[in-house]
Amino acid sequence: MKQKFPENFLWGASSSAFQIEGGWDEDGKGKTVADFNSFKRSDKQADTKVASDFYHHWKEDIAMMKELGMQIYRFSLSWARIVPDGDGDINAAGIDFYNKVIDELIANGIQPFVTLYHFDLPYALVEKYNGWECRNCAFAFERYARVCFKEFGDRVKYWQVINEQNLMIRVNERMNIYVDDLWEADRIRAQMDYHMFLGHALAVNSCHELVEGGKVGPAVSSTCTYPLTNKPEDVWAAKMNDWLKTNYCLEMHINGEYPGYYMRYLRERNIVPKMEPEDVAILKSAKIDYIALNYYRTLCASYLPASEEHPIGERVYRDNEVDFDQYGYCRNEKNANLSASEYGAQIDPMGLRIVLNEYYRRYHLPMIITENGLGMADVLTEDGKVHDSYRIDYIRSHIQACANAIEDGVELIGYSPWSVMDLLSSHQGFRKRYGFIYVDRDDFDVKQLRRIKKDSFYWYKHVIETNGEEL
Ligand code: BG6
Repeated sequence: MKQKFPENFLWGASSSAFQIEGGWDEDGKGKTVADFNSFKRSDKQADTKVASDFYHHWKEDIAMMKELGMQIYRFSLSWARIVPDGDGDINAAGIDFYNKVIDELIANGIQPFVTLYHFDLPYALVEKYNGWECRNCAFAFERYARVCFKEFGDRVKYWQVINEQNLMIRVNERMNIYVDDLWEADRIRAQMDYHMFLGHALAVNSCHELVEGGKVGPAVSSTCTYPLTNKPEDVWAAKMNDWLKTNYCLEMHINGEYPGYYMRYLRERNIVPKMEPEDVAILKSAKIDYIALNYYRTLCASYLPASEEHPIGERVYRDNEVDFDQYGYCRNEKNANLSASEYGAQIDPMGLRIVLNEYYRRYHLPMIITENGLGMADVLTEDGKVHDSYRIDYIRSHIQACANAIEDGVELIGYSPWSVMDLLSSHQGFRKRYGFIYVDRDDFDVKQLRRIKKDSFYWYKHVIETNGEEL
């Protein structure tokens, strides 16, 4: 099938530091929240210690990225590798590692597309400040961001500040929130979220100050929720799910203030965060250049009225389908029109076209897809191959959706799916794989960590070679 993409469209693939690097305590790196969280789960799945061992394989891995034809590589820097305790001394070995990676990428014709922070807050900041709950964390982040812009900004022009703040903030363990009281957890979460917005704005302004020609933006987890029926209440529940999970975040980044519906939500819960008067100028002055968006699936929702049994604000987990996280009104439903992956994600390429159109019409900013992919338990066959036709089907249909969105007039500048190679899935370790390159290890046996090109590798290489014309 022939599709048309602009001449300068950026094709790439993605990863993040704690999921790919390994080398978790090498050369002065500090521990991160991700290190601790995955240790807690390590009786069930792999931890961050070795991951895909990019820390020791980066040269050969970049050679494979070149072979794949990647024009951009979207990856994150580990804050704790660069500033081990979060806001103290700079670790020269960390700077050196990323300089080598960036130089090698450029030498191979691949543009580095860098995220400053992807789920891996330095653990020392948890001990010192309780992480983002304290305002100081925003300024520690600004300092770290400025180090990165000064050290790498001569070669790195595209920056994403925080990966999926809007999703991260809902996952207690990633934020190190371990309190039993649900209201208290929500209060802490709202305060942390606000400080992350402040840190984000400080970093955006620093990028514009320090990186000549630098472009900077957030990477959001996109949300597209369909109503279960055309009952107005179901439509409202679906909209609320999108607004309170993603749109409020984009609106804060773009307008420098929370939208009314979000303030109402915070007030109703009595969890309005503490904000300082001087923050207004910071938040309002930070102008993002583009939106990076991660898209995997769509959601479906029905309205669930609050009742004595399910009062507003109370989360009830007695039934997995009930989600009281938002306003107390939204129930997650299965969409009977969609098939789901073996891990439950409802596969929906049309949803991607919808999201791209919605965000572009609403925010009028260029966009790039920085994550999109299918996590499966791939099998290495006896002849040493991985036949992942299901992944090819998934990515093909989503690239088609991108082409349609571009024809609809959306300014989409690139596509960088998840992930360049198998890496530590944030929920299912090495059982669930996303890569174009198979990494031969299991959760508990790291074996030789051989790299093996999957069928999808050869297919995607051809897609890039033909600029998406031949899918
Ligand atoms: C995104 C994250 O939300 O989803 C990635 O940015 C993550 O870090 C990806 O790996 C897929 O989720 P999972 O849990 O299947 O690894």
